[in-house]
Amino acid sequence: MNLKTDVVIIGGGIAALQAARVLGQRFKVHIVTKSELKNSSSYKAQGGIAAVSSPNDHVDLHVADSLQAGVHHHHEENVETLVKSGANVISELIAGGLPVDRKSNGEISLGLEGAHSRSRIIHSGGDGTGRALVEHLLKIMPENVEIHPHEFAYELLLNIDGECIGVRTLHEHTKKTYLASYIIIATGGAGALYSTTSNCSNSFGDGIALAYRAGAEVADMEFVQFHPSLLFVNEKAKGLVSEAVRGAGGRFIDEQGNLLMEGVHPLGDLAPRHITAYEMYKHRKRGKEVYIDISMMTEFTTKFPTITQLCVDNNINLEDGKIPVAPGSHFLMGGIVADATGQTTIPRLFAIGEAACTGVHGANRLASNSLLEGITFGKSMAEFILTSFSTQTNYHKKNIKDQTIPIKLLTKQELQLKMMESAGIVRSHKGLSNFQKQLPTLRQCSKLRFVGETSEEIEIYFMHIVASLIVNAAILRTESRGAHIRADYSETNFLWQDNWIITQLDTMKV
Ligand code: SIN
Repeated sequence: MNLKTDVVIIGGGIAALQAARVLGQRFKVHIVTKSELKNSSSYKAQGGIAAVSSPNDHVDLHVADSLQAGVHHHHEENVETLVKSGANVISELIAGGLPVDRKSNGEISLGLEGAHSRSRIIHSGGDGTGRALVEHLLKIMPENVEIHPHEFAYELLLNIDGECIGVRTLHEHTKKTYLASYIIIATGGAGALYSTTSNCSNSFGDGIALAYRAGAEVADMEFVQFHPSLLFVNEKAKGLVSEAVRGAGGRFIDEQGNLLMEGVHPLGDLAPRHITAYEMYKHRKRGKEVYIDISMMTEFTTKFPTITQLCVDNNINLEDGKIPVAPGSHFLMGGIVADATGQTTIPRLFAIGEAACTGVHGANRLASNSLLEGITFGKSMAEFILTSFSTQTNYHKKNIKDQTIPIKLLTKQELQLKMMESAGIVRSHKGLSNFQKQLPTLRQCSKLRFVGETSEEIEIYFMHIVASLIVNAAILRTESRGAHIRADYSETNFLWQDNWIITQLDTMKV
């Protein structure tokens, strides 16, 4: 089935919906998502939206906190744009009816999270901010926007001039081809490449694999953020215990009640995530359990209804005053190289949200800057397309050779365990390069046109591609910076600060 349209958005999280809301005011927009809108990391997001909204705060402070948390490996201009425009975008959404938590005097309640120098986190429904945002955006979505759930995008189409002209998808066993003037990738991150993750179980970074195979530049893939506090029961992650819990007074403790972040960092339990995650990792490596002490909190269940339910569902008795946690993969700082208007290195192909790498998160994202990124860059990209729209007329496709998947693939579970072990919280050349041998080479990742594969087969191949991008970049960055911690290069090396590892087809450059 072939369909010609204005815009196709791949992915269904906050960035996708925000872009569709704006673009749909003038153009026909198709949202293609491999699952359902409720099955996205955005929808699950507990922590809120970081934005300057109080007279005690200032954009310069929010910028400085973002840079410090990300260890100064940023595109600073984009960080400023994010923080400044973001404050306006969230105000507009609130003025347009987004419900947010307020104090009894009507002022917005502002929470504190890791590495923020001010309380500036806006929440909705306590710890249900992502859900509230998705529901609000859907409520105000223009009619021009059509949503196609359970449709897996597996190949981008380019014309002979190298512009992106469309995407092929699979819905059950039916193939579809969308031809469009603009294609937008908003598929989120790749947390589910790891066996312990806060992400949805299908967050594999498909959009990054799609764009990479089409020839787009991908950068910063070595920077994978691990969140220090995932609810951990019977050696399995069961969801997130938001940093907002520690912002409200919760502390990391061991079985005996000893405080684990005491003396480690001046910000203690609210240190940047790569520091807290590494501490909890070391503690668990020694065979010890980790908990968040909530015994001092009087209104836990009212403040954190989602986490309360998660604990109830997993037979955790909150009366005990502590929640068992462990670190797990949470956010990918790297992705498809894009500017602040979402433009990638392929004309007419855009990337927004976690799938994109605009340099706003550096080596470690500041808490609650991700929903901010989605609503801000989703909007600025859509406005850019609105003002510069030109209809695609050249649909002469560039041909790619047919070939079958070139290597023996690991199973999903094998790959997830290997990622955790070799490309997880702590990496080394030895572990990474041993694992690299089981992954496709960059050349094998890019030269292939699918012929009869199912969406499950392609998805697992995409997992291998994204894993390969992470592992190759992690081998190359011979320093520790933010979320990239190398056992064999434990120092942060100033010479690496402004170096971006960029991969494009089968070449890598720094
Ligand atoms: C959290 O609630 O701890 C996560 C929020 C975020 O990733 O920014």
